[in-house]
Amino acid sequence: MRVLVTGGAGFIGANFVQQTVAERPEAVVTVLDALTYAGDRSSLAPVADRVELVHGSIADADLVDSLVAAADVVVHFAAESHNDNSLADPSPFVQTNVVGTFTLLEAVRRHGVRFHHVSTDEVYGDLPLEGDEKFTPTTPYNPSSPYSATKAGSDLLVRAWVRSFGVAATISNCSNNYGPYQHVEKFIPRQVTNLVDGVRPRLYGAGLNVRDWIHVADHNTAVWAVIEGGRIGETYLIGADGETSNLEVVRALNELFGREADDFDHVTDRPGHDLRYAIDASKLRDELGWTPRYTDFRTGLAATVDWYRANEDWWRPHKAAAEARYARSGQ
Ligand code: NAD
Ligand code: DAU
Repeated sequence: MRVLVTGGAGFIGANFVQQTVAERPEAVVTVLDALTYAGDRSSLAPVADRVELVHGSIADADLVDSLVAAADVVVHFAAESHNDNSLADPSPFVQTNVVGTFTLLEAVRRHGVRFHHVSTDEVYGDLPLEGDEKFTPTTPYNPSSPYSATKAGSDLLVRAWVRSFGVAATISNCSNNYGPYQHVEKFIPRQVTNLVDGVRPRLYGAGLNVRDWIHVADHNTAVWAVIEGGRIGETYLIGADGETSNLEVVRALNELFGREADDFDHVTDRPGHDLRYAIDASKLRDELGWTPRYTDFRTGLAATVDWYRANEDWWRPHKAAAEARYARSGQ
């Protein structure tokens, strides 16, 4: 099977490519990645001899056309992915997430290629902090940030291309991922690498916001389950019952570093900050038989801390630029 992975030099895409190469020797993998600040060739170093990395944009119609023509399936991870950046400058989010997805859809339509669109639970907006309501595949779209609005737009394009043009596509909407190779701008790697440097963790606002954490390896087994068993045109929600407040995460990280749990700073809150995400993944579990491997968040978090401690060469080159961006917004 010839697999074209967009955004394969980013966090989830690189883990997907590494897992695919390890577990599916028959797969011939090509990565299309623009190598933005968030992409890193070295994330694919362990599989460099098995994977072709094409440096280019998903919004480049000619390049996309030739790569899609040579693929059996396109797994679409490429995106501008960080909410805080979308508040500072939404423009690349529209270009990559909306125009880029449109460009891929037109190519898979022309060539009749299977398409899987990787999306986020943020398209549904947020849930109240109190209560046990969860997102389901029928929750109305209600995105809060420029990032989530552009992801919502891309999902709707995929749905329209399925219905109007018969494109063979599926969509998955996943909750917050953690694990190796995540950019240091994101919450958990930012705090871990701060702690390595002896800097106190930084919590937006009161830290009561809740995210539904899933290990990236579990996200990727679910993506393969949808590619292989998912029904065309359907949306599958991916989550592993990992609801945890930001405050709890920071306390756990401090403890893993042998520090006082409450030794952190509160910083300026994110404008429009979503309160809580929670996923009902019963469709994925019941229909496709998927189960997560990482069921204890604390264990997965400890393994992630170990990975960042052991791989400073990977994250150090990105750290100063990420912190400079945060300094501009007082975070
Ligand atoms: P990331 O920012 O770590 O990686 C994105 C990758 O896309 C980078 O390698 C970047 O270079 C590449 N890219 C950006 N613009 C491009 C363009 N125009 N053409 C080609 N490549 C381009 O993101 P991530 O966290 O790995 O997220 C991957 C996907 O998963 C995204 O679609 C995101 O919306 C979705 N998602 C992420 C999470 C999460 O918790 N991180 C959860 C659910 C869904
Ligand atoms: O839910 C899925 C989404 O999860 C993905 O679609 C996004 O691509 C991904 O970035 C992530 O979005 P979040 O905005 O939830 O993730 P982030 O890592 O930016 O922040 C997680 C939480 O931590 C959020 O409530 C904001 C808070 N935070 C973040 C940073 C960087 C802090 O308290 N302090 C920080 O320094």
